[in-house]
Amino acid sequence: MSRPPLDLVVTGGTVVNADWSGPASVLVSEGRITGLLAPGEVVPGAARVIDATGGFVVPGGVDPHCHISMEMGGSTTRDGYREATLAALAGGTTTVVDFAIPAPGQAPVDAVAQRREMAADARCDTALHACVVERDATTDDQLRGLVADGVVTVKLFTTYRDQVMANADTVHAVLKVLRDSGGMAYVHAEANPIIEHAQAIQAGCGHIGAADHALTRPEIAETAAVAAVLAAAESLHAPVYFVHQSTGEAIDLTRAARRRGVHAYTETCPHYLTLDESRYRGPHPERFVCCPPLRTKSTVEQVRRRASHGAVDTVGSDHCCYDTTQKTAAADDVRRVPNGMPGVQTRLPVVWTTLVHERGVPPERFVALTSTNAARLNGLAGRKGVIAPGADADLVVLDPAQLRIVRAGDLAMATDYTPYEGTALAGWPLTVVATGRVVVDGGVLTDPGPVGRALRSDPLPRQFLT
Ligand code: URP
Ligand code: ZN
Ligand code: ZN
Repeated sequence: MSRPPLDLVVTGGTVVNADWSGPASVLVSEGRITGLLAPGEVVPGAARVIDATGGFVVPGGVDPHCHISMEMGGSTTRDGYREATLAALAGGTTTVVDFAIPAPGQAPVDAVAQRREMAADARCDTALHACVVERDATTDDQLRGLVADGVVTVKLFTTYRDQVMANADTVHAVLKVLRDSGGMAYVHAEANPIIEHAQAIQAGCGHIGAADHALTRPEIAETAAVAAVLAAAESLHAPVYFVHQSTGEAIDLTRAARRRGVHAYTETCPHYLTLDESRYRGPHPERFVCCPPLRTKSTVEQVRRRASHGAVDTVGSDHCCYDTTQKTAAADDVRRVPNGMPGVQTRLPVVWTTLVHERGVPPERFVALTSTNAARLNGLAGRKGVIAPGADADLVVLDPAQLRIVRAGDLAMATDYTPYEGTALAGWPLTVVATGRVVVDGGVLTDPGPVGRALRSDPLPRQFLT
């Protein structure tokens, strides 16, 4: 049987999927993977051959949590789809999922439509989470329509009063409608009353600067909100995904629910695996302000252990591309510091270094955490997160051992700082192929132009969620 002409072959490397790894050549034609060849099989001619000898060939990263041009609390992150997706590609991520957070009074469907227009600038494939802040008589129909139109995940915040916080009734109702329509809620779980009380105490004694951030959002706030949302999901038999879990306790509650049969999923972030609250006692505490905050060294170790052992499903960047001017402007009152850190480009190297390079976690788990599970949990299974015939040709040749010192000036993110400044990281991409295009070659990024597609996610069948 004759094969279609090949555009690209990646040969000589160790192919790593979430469920197997081994030496193989990857054949690419018209943006898709058309075959895998075992060593010794004859590799057909191709327009381009990439020699991956000594490297790992992993599926392009799927970042399930990436804020692009996000306006929150009066600050807007510095990147658009062009900048964020170029930075993603430079770091080995070939699909990003952004959030369509409605402006005050805006309908979730209109926020999605607006984001889809913005996504025309994307350099890699993108998908969207919708978001509900206030529920009205039209919300359920909007969500059903969105799932049918390829937006299957819906963000809910249990905190940030007067901005995006959804109340408990809204959380319950959205969990229910998504259960019945093939969607899933994506929940930021921190108990707002506990946080506001802690903030008031800190403000009352004049300790409300960025250096006091961790005290204003204690671990128990996360525990309480995760427990409450899990109870709602369990009673409804609804799936639920917790974004940016930052404590061992939050992860354990979610895992325990999963063992009881709840479709409950844990995402953590690179910073909760690596950075601790001592950063708030350092020279620029505001640069590390994110919600939930960085935790104690022992909590970081708990999160790392759970991610190493398979108790975490995904690592999302929670990329928020503020710059140091924005971060510094209100550093004396942490309630006004824009939350979040830049990280779409450093996600893969941080996870590789922390888990595989330093702790010996199998590369297959790295792939599950950074790509495969996020693809499955975002309705992209079969297309993304796997090196197999029929999947999109999103491939990264990753250098497993070469350490590089991170410098903000060397990164493509549209900001002037990185929380990893001066850190030695391995796992950088030597080559990145996105839907068959070689966009990073020998470590050098070339802008492919606005070729990223706004993907429609598939409804989430139960079998992907078990
Ligand atoms: O600090 C964070 N995480 N900011 C971004 C918005 C969110 O809560 O995900
Ligand atoms: Zn959040
Ligand atoms: Zn976020």
